[in-house]
Amino acid sequence: MALYSEKVMDHFTNPRNVGRIEDADGIGEVGNARCGDIMKIYIKVNDGVITDVKFNTFGCGSAIASSSMATEMIKGKPISEALQLTNKAVAEALDGLPAHKLHCSVLAEEAIRAAIKDYYDKNGIAYDKSQFPDPEEDPHGHGGEL
Ligand code: FES
Repeated sequence: MALYSEKVMDHFTNPRNVGRIEDADGIGEVGNARCGDIMKIYIKVNDGVITDVKFNTFGCGSAIASSSMATEMIKGKPISEALQLTNKAVAEALDGLPAHKLHCSVLAEEAIRAAIKDYYDKNGIAYDKSQFPDPEEDPHGHGGEL
């Protein structure tokens, strides 16, 4: 059996939503301290709905495939739904990732959350802080679970 599913290979070789949004409403940047990979996600929000999303990932193939799939999964969705997206759901949508690559999908979940938090902060929208447990002062120090 191949190490990577066809979906992973498809999203790695032909990633969707690559790029940046110049006038983004929220930007989330996260990194994994162990592998040094960095993921940045940009969102446009209208009436509580994520109307556009783009990403730049400086990272491994699984991180690129996860970003591509995750952006597809939240595009056109209400923020409330995007906040529910788990790395597990991303990995499942990719027909699985090898166990030692599951942490790559965690970056996608974290980057989306960070972008939404940034949107809330920029627009003075109140939110439950427990939804965003990662300490802001250390944006590159988390996500290292293997
Ligand atoms: Fe770093 Fe995949 S090895 S995110």
